[in-house]
Amino acid sequence: MHLASKRILLIIGGGIAAYKSLFLIRRLREQGAQVRCILTKAGAEFVTPLSVSALSEQPVYQDLFSLTDEAEMGHIRLSREADLVVVAPATANLMARMASGLADDLATTCLLASSAPVLLAPAMNGYMWAHPATQENRQRLAERGVSFVGPEAGDLACGEVATGRMAEPEEILTAIASQLAGQSGPLACKRVLVTAGPTREALDPVRYVSNHSSGKQGFAIATALAALGAEVALIAGPVQLPTPDNLSRIDVESADDMLAACLSALPVDAAICAAAVADWKAQIAPNKMKKTGDGLPEISWQQNPDILATLSQHEQRPPLVVGFAAETEKVVEHAQAKRARKGCDWIVANDVSAERGVFGGDSNQVHVIDADGVEAWPQLDKRAVAERLADRIAHALGQS
Ligand code: PMT
Repeated sequence: MHLASKRILLIIGGGIAAYKSLFLIRRLREQGAQVRCILTKAGAEFVTPLSVSALSEQPVYQDLFSLTDEAEMGHIRLSREADLVVVAPATANLMARMASGLADDLATTCLLASSAPVLLAPAMNGYMWAHPATQENRQRLAERGVSFVGPEAGDLACGEVATGRMAEPEEILTAIASQLAGQSGPLACKRVLVTAGPTREALDPVRYVSNHSSGKQGFAIATALAALGAEVALIAGPVQLPTPDNLSRIDVESADDMLAACLSALPVDAAICAAAVADWKAQIAPNKMKKTGDGLPEISWQQNPDILATLSQHEQRPPLVVGFAAETEKVVEHAQAKRARKGCDWIVANDVSAERGVFGGDSNQVHVIDADGVEAWPQLDKRAVAERLADRIAHALGQS
């Protein structure tokens, strides 16, 4: 992450998730960012000004009409000096007041007076988030260029299970880094494409074959690259994941669609193929296949195009092509052979035996293989694998 000397204005709204903002302040400070905090009246019901000020090592701003604050730093200056304004937790009320352009406390006044980009981490009850009023406000704010991280689905403080949980501090931190990376970062001015998720190969108008890839590893890589400032084209098979900030996502179904999307993204500085592309496709039956007694349907299979090999041999070959190898035995040996056969520069080998839970899971243990040899990485969560890989890519592209 490249947050050293970045100035973040953090607005802490009134929600039970406010405690997570304390972790966020600590993580931002560890990354070298300067953090100034506004604590709303409701926010102060959940966390104390003293904790916020101790962690940020700055005074906490609470009152629009505080003479001390105004003498020391007017609210205009407070909002103008920020590289990024982050609202976490962003309550339904704060979002509504922002969408309406109200300026009835220090937080909303600063938001209205600021020309800095704004990132919201909403947190609220699931019904409040799903309410058309909140969704309209979200839409209006997004149209004005406000970015969002979360909310996530899960257990809520009110005891319900729904979408409304504030994103975890680490995720907000990544979103902050990717917001700021457009302004700087080791991959600024670099274009990369990342493939993620499974492909889905139709058998007839209603059936398909696919695999269990969730897209988590590929999405984490795309996010980490965007956080370093890269312009990322994320080419995603059918997955249930939200689109990360600051990248363009192209949704595809089949291997043929994925190849076409990859080719139209060229030229790029690097291609990272983390998708689990089906090796075969069926001759698609024009109508739904009928069950005829005990007989089994005749399906005729063909090879799918190999996207990684095509990119590796293309006349517009990216300077760096990275493949993944999903193996269940002799992981390194098979991956080395795959790297040579497909012609990519690096191959990231993972053991996808069922007991490892890599497909769909949150962690991975990989070997990174290049012309110089094999690096064994420890078991890490997929975000950490992605961040380490993104740093390696930045280094290889000569920008770090
Ligand atoms: O999505 P997750 O649940 O997070 O799981 C992550 C993952 C296990 C899917 C990921 O880490 C991974 O290993 N991706 C590659 C899966 C795969 O298809 O491996 P493979 O060994 O079959 O293929 C080798 C390489 O060739 C891969 O880069 C693949 O994208 C590419 N390929 C394969 C077939 C094909 N027709 N075209 C290709 O481009």
